Amino acid sequence: MQHISIQIINEEHATLTAMLQSLLMMIKRGPLNEPELFFDVLRSMLFYIDEVPEKQHHPKETKFFFPLVAKRSDACAEAIQRLKKEHRQGETAVRELQHLLLAWEILGDSRRAAFEAAAKQYFDFYKAHMHLEESLIIPQALRVLTAQDWTTIDAAFALNADPLSPTKPRDPIYDRLFSKITFRAPAPIGLGHS
Ligand SMILES: [Fe+2]
Ligand SMILES: [Fe+2]
Repeated sequence: MQHISIQIINEEHATLTAMLQSLLMMIKRGPLNEPELFFDVLRSMLFYIDEVPEKQHHPKETKFFFPLVAKRSDACAEAIQRLKKEHRQGETAVRELQHLLLAWEILGDSRRAAFEAAAKQYFDFYKAHMHLEESLIIPQALRVLTAQDWTTIDAAFALNADPLSPTKPRDPIYDRLFSKITFRAPAPIGLGHS
């Protein structure tokens, strides 16, 4: 049976991955002769990550998904502790990235390498994080959770889905942010040139 919460988790992971891939491609390409636009789009991408995955996706997992899986499966307890810790670290890491980006923009190229290294590290960190959720926690949840558990989790996830998800109606308050990212950023998240 396909649970709406699992579908949403998978979609939100795919969106975050695409956003981070586009971000890394943009950094590699550099500002070229459009620095204002370049930094504006990167700032918007980091703001999106801070606003949606960090403030909506991770709290839903921590509050509604992980406790029920931990309650029904001792085998996941250690991994869940690690994932919860990473959720806390992720929020700090994305703020740090925003600061490092500002340093590059304001202070110039001497700060580019530090931002680039931190962005790559952030991408690897989240890839490993999502992989652990997808390879261990979700399969185990599908084995151990009860119908009542799924009702609770599905309701929590459906309430607050990623507004960039292709299957959700677009939230008007995010329209400007999305237009900026999708028209200017390279694929896979955007329509701009890579
Ligand atoms: Fe997570
Ligand atoms: Fe997740």
